[in-house]
Amino acid sequence: MNKLILGDNLEIMRKMESETVDLIYLDPPFFSNRNYEVIWGDDGEIRSFQDRWSGGIEHYIAWLKERVIEMHRILRKTGSIFLHCDWHANAEIKVEILNKIFGNSNFKNEIIWSYKRYTAVSNRFQNLHDTIFWFSKSKEQIFNEQREEYGENSGKMDSHYKQDEDGQWFRWQKRKGKEPYKVFLSDGRRIGDVWEMSIINASSKERIGYPTQKPEKLLERIIKSSSNENDVIFDPFVGGGTTIAVAEKLNRKWIGIDQSVQAVKVTEFRLSNDRNLFSQPFTVQLYKYDYDTLFNKNAFEFETWIIDQFGGIGNTKQKGDFGIDGKTRENTPIQVKQSENIGRNVVDNFSSAIKRSDKALYDNNIQENKIAGYIIAFSFGKGAIQEVARLQNSENLIIKLVRVDEIVPISVKPTLTVEIKDNGQTDKHLREIEFLAKGVTTDGKHIEFYAWDFNFNNEQFSAEILRDTTGKQTKTFKPGKFKIAVKVIDNEGLENTEIIKLKINGKVEKF
Ligand SMILES: C[S@@+](CC[C@H](N)C(=O)[O-])C[C@H]1O[C@@H](n2cnc3c(N)ncnc32)[C@H](O)[C@@H]1O
Repeated sequence: MNKLILGDNLEIMRKMESETVDLIYLDPPFFSNRNYEVIWGDDGEIRSFQDRWSGGIEHYIAWLKERVIEMHRILRKTGSIFLHCDWHANAEIKVEILNKIFGNSNFKNEIIWSYKRYTAVSNRFQNLHDTIFWFSKSKEQIFNEQREEYGENSGKMDSHYKQDEDGQWFRWQKRKGKEPYKVFLSDGRRIGDVWEMSIINASSKERIGYPTQKPEKLLERIIKSSSNENDVIFDPFVGGGTTIAVAEKLNRKWIGIDQSVQAVKVTEFRLSNDRNLFSQPFTVQLYKYDYDTLFNKNAFEFETWIIDQFGGIGNTKQKGDFGIDGKTRENTPIQVKQSENIGRNVVDNFSSAIKRSDKALYDNNIQENKIAGYIIAFSFGKGAIQEVARLQNSENLIIKLVRVDEIVPISVKPTLTVEIKDNGQTDKHLREIEFLAKGVTTDGKHIEFYAWDFNFNNEQFSAEILRDTTGKQTKTFKPGKFKIAVKVIDNEGLENTEIIKLKINGKVEKF
């Protein structure tokens, strides 16, 4: 399952199985000063900043190295790693980390990403490139050759090239002792290790609004060259989600981690903006979850998700499960009830269901005093608790009741109100409206940002403004009916949504 995970990538990678991902791209924070490096400014990112900054470059290298050790472990034999860095630390990264962990013999390329941009005047040359080190896990790594087109006129002036009877430009390529063969200009040239690509500029559609966002084109080349469809792409420093947005478009599976709530939520919204009929479902794993959202989630989605959080495996089909929704890794049945105050009858029905579905396992669990099944729900009534005790005493049948808040910590989402102010006509056709969103949190939490969809279609939130920290937006509208969706996100990643329906026609009304 495609997954976005909030957390320190070191902790999360330590729980991942060995040799399960095909391609890793990482763009870790540079070793530089705070003003330069901090993108999101939220608690998670600052914590990570403090983690690696305190002791200078040695400290930074040690911080990154322990992470790259985990990346090496979870990479498949045919897999590759692309580590994106720059002059701040690239020498140390290659010698102290990559050569040592992956081995010099698995060093494939030092890719230079060269770009143009304005830099401040200084007493040295401008820094106009980044470095991407490509290492493979073994000699069996995947490589799909990439080509680029020649310019319109290239080759045609070169006397080696001629046109064939179809008008195609080609030249003869000689081979030792064999017939020469034709090389066509239209096949382009093999790509080298210097990649000229523009950085994301101010007007780019992909732009999220922070300086180190990487262009999709760069990730496209990396992913196409070193993985195949359905492979698993992993980005442990997901940032604004470029890697996984591209992985999704190229039909790869993906996992992304970031320690910043803002990064994870911005990535989530970016993915939902890009969604189409063929998009695969994905889950977002936070530290805490909102009660109402879980309680009202689609039943099957809730089942699969909570079983996954519990460490089990959910059924892939919704029907025909004998009331068993999944299993633990030891094959113990799990039932999920998305409700409160579960009664005695649920326990009884479940005990018959587990007996019916696998009698041998059921008998064996009773004989060996093992847990025969789990029921997961929001809360359990007295009747259920007594019934569980009775079954254990009289039949030695052990059923465990597990509350949702024992599996995932529950929190409260922010409230949201949106005020609108009509600024009147700006010309004959357009009317200006000001929106003022105000999110309120409890328990000492705070608001991180707002996201806006000014053309909400009732189904999919598609953010036009991805990360607004002010809550204030001004928009002009033509006459007509409009649905505007606003989201507020707090520092635990919990969100609330408000939908405003406006009818604009000489005046502004809600409908
Ligand atoms: C340079 S950005 C990545 C940008 C990304 N490649 C893109 O194009 O949007 C680095 C990211 O690493 C995250 N980060 C820093 N330390 C981390 C850690 N220990 N675990 C997970 N994420 C971390 C930061 O929050 C930040 O979003």
